[in-house]
Amino acid sequence: MTNTAHPYDTVLPDSLRHADNYKWTKFGDDVLPMWVADMDFPVAPAILSALQGRLSRSVGYPQMPGDPTLKAQLIAKLAKDGLSDLTSEGVAFLPGVVPGLYAAVQALTEVGDEVLTVTPTYPPFLSATTDQGRVLNAVKLIEGKAGWTMDFAALEAAITPKTKLLMLCHPHNPTGRVWTRSELEQLAEFVLKHKLYVVTDELHADLRFSDAPDYVPFAAISPEVAQRTITLTGPCKAYNTAGLSIGAMISHNPDLVAKLEKTTHGTMGHPSALSVTMWQAALSGGAEWLADTLKYLQANRDFLSEFMARELPQVPYTPPEATYLAWLDLRSHPRAADIQQFLLEEAKLALNDGLTFGEGYQGFVRLNFATSRELLQDGLERLAKAVKA
Ligand SMILES: Cc1ncc(COP(=O)(O)O)c(C=O)c1O
Repeated sequence: MTNTAHPYDTVLPDSLRHADNYKWTKFGDDVLPMWVADMDFPVAPAILSALQGRLSRSVGYPQMPGDPTLKAQLIAKLAKDGLSDLTSEGVAFLPGVVPGLYAAVQALTEVGDEVLTVTPTYPPFLSATTDQGRVLNAVKLIEGKAGWTMDFAALEAAITPKTKLLMLCHPHNPTGRVWTRSELEQLAEFVLKHKLYVVTDELHADLRFSDAPDYVPFAAISPEVAQRTITLTGPCKAYNTAGLSIGAMISHNPDLVAKLEKTTHGTMGHPSALSVTMWQAALSGGAEWLADTLKYLQANRDFLSEFMARELPQVPYTPPEATYLAWLDLRSHPRAADIQQFLLEEAKLALNDGLTFGEGYQGFVRLNFATSRELLQDGLERLAKAVKA
């Protein structure tokens, strides 16, 4: 952990608690918000200046078939990540990653089909299925002492003739797991055996910590599995730009991308001009900012881990390998049944409620540690005081 001053050390509640900021205004002024996945940091200078340039040039329709510069940048970036040989037809832009989750369910399954996912999970994985008349087939991860792992036996047992699609989150929100190559190989074998389609949300991939396992995109596991896989990604987690909605759906099988596009044609808006410029700037000039931000986040994660071990050893927690989210197990607390409300009232701390991450996760909370060290310490002290009282 570094003791040197960093500009992020001076993040101030007063500058964040303004009407444009959902994270900082949903709860009362006395509440410290450590919930929705926004970072409390300003955007990269490269993004800021590119946006200013775009505003002074034009905000007319962007390149409607999909900005060719951004496509080329993204294909090059994904190749570096291990997802090589993508073509322009295998990439299409979307107004966000969640729309891609919904589109995949709509295009690759029928009403009444089952969609398989592992829980706990980012809540839209659940709603993309249930909102659209599909049946949720949720398999719990194994809670081991060393962290969260796939339950392959339970996945196998969950398969029925109606199971058509697997939704994967890699790295995983909320546990912060970066699935290993061997876990992904086992998953790929399972997918091929049962002829499933896969939608893999890899939005958090650029937020891997230095001690994470090597990142392998799921579609890079084999050409066979790539033919059945849609990968979703976007800039919003790594570059803190969720208000400028944009995402991409990617596949080595362009027919799958075309299928998703066709299903949502006319109902899904195009990504905004500013979002296209923002993502271009992130990919061309954001690397240094991202590396520095990631270092800060990793030091925050380590601070949090030390704090939890020292002050709250009774609260199981596995340090995330990626992302700025900590998944805390407060099931043994007397107020586990309404833990989020308890922490709001008693700690004046806003965290995400485990209940929304799938059945059986009441009593967990998700804490966003992408803030200044000082505010993180404040939040953790509020948590410890309320939990120990
Ligand atoms: C795994 C995951 N997917 C998607 C999103 C949201 O993506 P978007 O805002 O581009 O729809 C989030 C936001 O936190 C997320 O964690």
